[in-house]
Amino acid sequence: MLERGLTLDFVRVTEAAALASGYWCGRGNKIAADDAAVRGMRAVFDTVPIHGTVVIGEGEMDEAPMLYIGERLGNAESPLVDIAVDPLEGTNLVAKGAAGAIAVLAAAEKECLLHAPDMYMDKICAGPAAKGRISLDASVTENVNNVAEALGKKVQDVTVVVLDRERHQKIIDELRQCGCRIQLITDGDVAPAVATAFPNSGIDMMIGVGGAPEGVLAAAALKCMGGDMQGRLWPEDDEDRERMAKMGVADDNKLLTMEDLAATDDIIFCATGITSGSLLRGVVYSGEKATTHSLIMRAKTGTVRFIETIHDFNKKPLSNLIRKDDPGYAGK
Ligand code: FBP
Repeated sequence: MLERGLTLDFVRVTEAAALASGYWCGRGNKIAADDAAVRGMRAVFDTVPIHGTVVIGEGEMDEAPMLYIGERLGNAESPLVDIAVDPLEGTNLVAKGAAGAIAVLAAAEKECLLHAPDMYMDKICAGPAAKGRISLDASVTENVNNVAEALGKKVQDVTVVVLDRERHQKIIDELRQCGCRIQLITDGDVAPAVATAFPNSGIDMMIGVGGAPEGVLAAAALKCMGGDMQGRLWPEDDEDRERMAKMGVADDNKLLTMEDLAATDDIIFCATGITSGSLLRGVVYSGEKATTHSLIMRAKTGTVRFIETIHDFNKKPLSNLIRKDDPGYAGK
């Protein structure tokens, strides 16, 4: 079982990724930003008392040097946990200094997170108040009307987040037709999916096709908060279909419910803001110190914590790793 004490260990993991990556804000280099996040996250995982296995990570073993699928994480023999990570969710956002990049992970009882291949997933997400009222098999209009009714809002007051992509034009047209508010985002659909579960976030529903791994991370968070989500893998070619089959999803039309995506209450979800967004504030650096803002929750108890942390680079054991990526510190 994932004991509550692990929550702070996991916060340290996403904080390290955010601190390392945040230095790259707006510097136009998404690869360096991602690499920094991966190294920050990987280093702190070595201090966490779990026997973890990466099920969603940076790629297959031969594709990624760290946090690859199947990699062993943690420094203990138990508990046995599966880990889903996205050290930098929103690489373009950090490269441009745009809102909404986060470092994120979910840890769960073994075999309970969908081992989603790196491909697209059609998704719909909403918070606890609209649980059972969203469906990928219903029209966009029906979903918006149902969410509005469940939240006791007028349709014109409901806000739906959609990734701004050509593939979503029909969805966007239908949303406009039904009269709700729309937030078109350029990247980063995990944070808004999670935000649907916070009544004051200003986001009521998220819909559209994005990354499948990001879908599992969103499902883990929504599970912690009693929210709802459905997904359907969205293969683009036969290679994707092969990948799905390899991961155990043979039917490419299978509707994935919360139980398929995150099938346990033994889940911890954790995220730290890199650039400020709807859910979390970004990293703020100030001389030898930096402040991070994180969200940590546990499905078992439903506790949701926001943690603001002040880090002192003079004392922090991992500060070398974090600073190494900062061009501003080069040679100092
Ligand atoms: P990266 O962090 O890997 O760049 O992904 C960001 C993201 O915007 C996800 O949040 C989203 O699910 C996916 O990419 C959408 O993919 P695409 O940009 O191909 O439409």
